[in-house]
Amino acid sequence: MKQGQNKNIVLIGFMGTGKTTISAALEKMCGMEVIDMDREIELRENRKISEIFASDGEEYFRSLETGLLREIAESGNRIISCGGGTPLREENVVWMRKNGEVFLLSASPQTIFERVKDSDSRPILEGHKSAEFIAELLEERRAKYEAAADTVIVTDGKSAEEICQEIISKRKG
Ligand code: S3P
Repeated sequence: MKQGQNKNIVLIGFMGTGKTTISAALEKMCGMEVIDMDREIELRENRKISEIFASDGEEYFRSLETGLLREIAESGNRIISCGGGTPLREENVVWMRKNGEVFLLSASPQTIFERVKDSDSRPILEGHKSAEFIAELLEERRAKYEAAADTVIVTDGKSAEEICQEIISKRKG
């Protein structure tokens, strides 16, 4: 990170916790550039995440995430919106924390279900779109999410603006 630069704001959290929405709102508020990891991977691979999972599998996708985070790790002053599974690999957490302050967006399984139920862009949820499945997977992942986070932001019932203000006020780096 260059002198005078602030740390990256890294947003993690389960699918449907608002990472993409909040990163776009933060971009407007702070004028920082956003890197949306899912979007960036799709652009580079020139195919949808569901196609990457179907043709090359989850591990291959996770390796793309690791490669991208390693590249970004040297920079600062950016908002990095991670994929929902990015913090599951320990190596990814090391890279995202190198120049980044990590904010975990949390939401209840019911809120997440309402946000993802009409989308078909998440291979992990295909065929099991229910609040019960989401609750189980969230529980399985919880320890890893919390270990990666510097700060947890509860998003249920809050507007994008409120969530952004909370992130900005809790920022240390
Ligand atoms: C995933 C979440 C997705 C995407 C991929 C895998 C996961 O990102 O990276 O489908 O394992 O939770 P979003 O959280 O942006 O939906």
